[in-house]
Amino acid sequence: LDIIDLANKIKANPSEYANACQGKILATLFYEPSTRTRMSFSTAMMRLGGNVIGFDNPMNSSVSKGETLKDTLTVIGGYADIIAIRHPVEGSAEAAAMYSPAPIINAGDGGHLHPTQTLADIVTLYNEKGRLDNLCIGLCGDLKYGRTVHSLIKTMSRFKGNRFVLISTPELTVPQYIKDVMDNAGCEYTEITSLKEAMSELDVLYMTRIQQERFASEEEYLAQKDTYVLDRIKMQSAKKDMIVMHPLPRVDEITIDVDDDARAMYFKQAK
Ligand code: NCD
Repeated sequence: LDIIDLANKIKANPSEYANACQGKILATLFYEPSTRTRMSFSTAMMRLGGNVIGFDNPMNSSVSKGETLKDTLTVIGGYADIIAIRHPVEGSAEAAAMYSPAPIINAGDGGHLHPTQTLADIVTLYNEKGRLDNLCIGLCGDLKYGRTVHSLIKTMSRFKGNRFVLISTPELTVPQYIKDVMDNAGCEYTEITSLKEAMSELDVLYMTRIQQERFASEEEYLAQKDTYVLDRIKMQSAKKDMIVMHPLPRVDEITIDVDDDARAMYFKQAK
């Protein structure tokens, strides 16, 4: 809640924070593709008066020569004041934090977690809904590999009265450790396969991309692709004040005619 408060203060008065990170260096080490996440970190650091180093393709760094994560982090940790890392291996950010003298931000570790996306998500959620509790939250798509889903559920489970409607195929349901998080928090949740049937009860709909890069084979991905598509017709059965969120990138799970709907928050969320 303190971070949401600070984010809103910065939004309301950016010039007051223009030098907040003066003289500081952020390293963005992206071992996986990214548009929004990496550039939002860079933009944030620049707007706060700091500087940015890093790579967006490890093949242009000494990683291509065989340098280990430990060595890369030991070296960069000596240059930067803080490091944002995205890596395909689950647990890599935690490993990085063991090696790096500079603090580590997890910008996505494989199909595990994406905590800073959740920070952006909850700022939007709080500002749009006016609360973070007593919400009926639908999450739809790739709930198995979708790391943004896992982090969002972990966070929203901490607030009272939230209920989750988990919409996916049986192959792409949330992992057991996420169910444990909801159970331990006493959160109610249902697992269903129909987006259409869920629409009318939701306060929030969090759509996600099927995570093609995490599938063992092309066939398994193709079997899941295009199962869920949010379009104008489905939006008609949603509450007037339901909001649609998506971490981006969108592929084809939301048709572009939804973009003009006042309830579509995904670009606002990224901004
Ligand atoms: C997400 C990610 O990388 O997990 N993107 C993002 O950071 N905004 C979602 C995705 O890639 O589908």
